[in-house]
Amino acid sequence: MSTDPFVVVHGKRFKRLLSAEEIQGIVRQLAHQIVQRHRSEELVCVVILKGAFMFANDLIRAMNIPCEITFLRAQSYGAHMYSSGKVHIEFFTNHQRLQDRPVLIIEDIVDSGLTLQAIRDYLAQYRPKSIETVTLLLKPDTFQGTPPEYVGKAIAPLFVIGYGMDYNEGGRYLQDIYVLDSETAGTQSTSNNG
Ligand code: PRP
Repeated sequence: MSTDPFVVVHGKRFKRLLSAEEIQGIVRQLAHQIVQRHRSEELVCVVILKGAFMFANDLIRAMNIPCEITFLRAQSYGAHMYSSGKVHIEFFTNHQRLQDRPVLIIEDIVDSGLTLQAIRDYLAQYRPKSIETVTLLLKPDTFQGTPPEYVGKAIAPLFVIGYGMDYNEGGRYLQDIYVLDSETAGTQSTSNNG
């Protein structure tokens, strides 16, 4: 872990919220919970791009049970920084593979919950046996909708980056998770969607 708790991305200063070690501890706990429930059946893991790619990589390896892995991209249109409620979905697999199978949606962060609701509604039309969600982070103060079954950590409604999450495509590569530093927050949205 870097000793410097700050990073600067696109001119904004961010402060470390969770170290890579803390994140891996959370990932291991989530993996344990999921395996306890799904040891005897093969999950279809639906990784939500782009932000969840790093979390999903670690989570699926920690679960270490047979599963199918596919990807879905959800993009909000309308408002620039906030979810508009209109979500465009690209799903990178044959829908028929979902029928009568347990689906696990893997998200990095759930903020308003609008993206997750749209994804759940989209997947439900292909009649999976069940749909569950694991999210590394949840913002309970802003969230509405069906609660994720597995939540790594609840956080305040802050803008976070790192470990797959970005600020204007910057910072996804970071191993730690950082929060927008209050001194530089200015008019920055607290929403992570965008
Ligand atoms: C983030 C996150 C969720 C969504 C949550 O994705 O990965 O999919 O926002 O926001 P909501 O709960 O308010 O709907 P983002 O739109 O930033 O795309 P990205 O993962 O490609 O960066």
